[in-house]
Amino acid sequence: MYATYIFPRLMDWILRGERFQHERQRLLTPAEGVVLEIGFGTGLNLPHYPRTVTALHAVDSSSMLPDRVASRTAQAPFPVHIQHLSAERLPYDNAMFDYVVSTFTLCTIPEPILALREVRRVMKPEGHFLFLEHGRSDVSKIAGWQDRLNPFQNWLGCGCNLNRRIDRLVRDSGLYLESMDRYVLPGVPRIGGEIYRGLAARNEIGLPSKPAGWASS
Ligand SMILES: C[S@@+](CC[C@H](N)C(=O)[O-])C[C@H]1O[C@@H](n2cnc3c(N)ncnc32)[C@H](O)[C@@H]1O
Repeated sequence: MYATYIFPRLMDWILRGERFQHERQRLLTPAEGVVLEIGFGTGLNLPHYPRTVTALHAVDSSSMLPDRVASRTAQAPFPVHIQHLSAERLPYDNAMFDYVVSTFTLCTIPEPILALREVRRVMKPEGHFLFLEHGRSDVSKIAGWQDRLNPFQNWLGCGCNLNRRIDRLVRDSGLYLESMDRYVLPGVPRIGGEIYRGLAARNEIGLPSKPAGWASS
């Protein structure tokens, strides 16, 4: 009951707040070409993709608020192909995507390293992975509270974890972290507002140049 009817509405309401919209816009500015989004949710990134995107493929293990997703998708200026499956096993060929995007999803995916290895596999060698995630604080007192409250958040957020070190997950998957910002999202309780915002490439060797629209704080 909670997971089917209440959580999707709550998630959509919180994550479409003004501050989140600003963060989405800033993250997605460099995206272009054929893009894959993992953990598409209710399609809140759609209005923030720039005109340089030619097609969006999206995966999510759940189907949430399908009417809202359909109306958001209908307004996109590029084709959107959504599949309901887990990011840990992607049904795409190697090196298909110019960009892969994840926002507020690596906290929830049950096997995030497997999913990130898949991200790396399906990215073009010159492609980029853009991520905007919340995760573990570097302040030990806050991290302690994140550990203590994690079981409750896991239930409330339908699998969401407060305490994942997102940069470590990205590196451990074999992706090369090109750039990352850490900050606390204003107006959000710190246990859930520790942001990891970054850009990763497939390999350090033959590293593509940073996209023009990438703005590091
Ligand atoms: C907190 S929501 C974020 C939704 C969206 N990315 C956003 O920024 O609004 C996390 C999303 O990850 C999805 N998810 C969880 N596990 C997944 C998996 N293994 N593969 C793909 N999506 C998954 C959930 O169904 C949910 O839609």
